[in-house]
Amino acid sequence: MKGVSKRFGGVHALEKVDFSLGKDEVVGLIGDNGAGKSTLIKMLAGVYRPDDGEILFEGRQVEIHNPKEAKSLGIETVYQELALVDNLDIPANIFLGREPTFRIPWLGIIDGQEMERHARQILERLKIKINSMHSPVLNLSGGQRQAVAISRALYSNPKVMIMDEPTAALAVKEVNKVLDLIVQLKKSGVSVIFISHTLQNTFSVSDRVVILRKGQKVGDIATDKTTPDEVVKLMVGAEEAPTGVV
Ligand SMILES: Nc1ncnc2c1ncn2[C@@H]1O[C@H](COP(=O)(O)OP(=O)(O)OP(=O)(O)O)[C@@H](O)[C@H]1O
Ligand SMILES: [Mg+2]
Repeated sequence: MKGVSKRFGGVHALEKVDFSLGKDEVVGLIGDNGAGKSTLIKMLAGVYRPDDGEILFEGRQVEIHNPKEAKSLGIETVYQELALVDNLDIPANIFLGREPTFRIPWLGIIDGQEMERHARQILERLKIKINSMHSPVLNLSGGQRQAVAISRALYSNPKVMIMDEPTAALAVKEVNKVLDLIVQLKKSGVSVIFISHTLQNTFSVSDRVVILRKGQKVGDIATDKTTPDEVVKLMVGAEEAPTGVV
């Protein structure tokens, strides 16, 4: 993204922000509440259009008018507020709205076995163990639900996976599971944008961190060249940083 700006009425949600994501790279997007993180990724996900600036994908200038166009470029998004259907099982949630009908396509009969086979394949790729594929996802833990949401996004073989606060509502053990998933994604050739309010989590999975403050980019640093302390100072602005905060 080059020089991207977005205003909502009088609010400058983003001002002339440059943002890049490399192949197989995990970038942690950091900033206080209202800094512009979600606005930035929503322009990649086709939810908002930038007022100014341009988006390049694989070196080519693109316009992403809607979520469908984002998906067709290979950009998938997993939001905190998970869109799972509680009373359906795992395969049904992964395939929601795009169920395979290979066996008798002209009759549109849903191929349950094929769905389960694909679902197992995706879960294996992510090294996720789930005992019962066929109980409603309502019965799964937060971490398992997040894994199903990620599996759903992976079904289309995306190049870019955007995760906006995927760990926000999870217990520590489940958070670790999601962080492991991100590492697996990277290993399998997917680039990831990861948003979290917990710096420790961002530091543990990101190759690089990008820091936004009040709609402007105030830092873009390789993770091993900075510290949470330095990032907090950039996040809140040196003049506002209380001393000793980590
Ligand atoms: N649809 C909208 N209409 C009006 N204002 C908006 C809209 N979306 C975002 N904003 C404003 O833009 C600014 C950036 O919001 P954004 O949601 O991108 O922040 P964020 O960094 O994701 O914050 P958080 O950490 O709380 O999720 C905020 O001032 C917000 O109120
Ligand atoms: Mg947000």
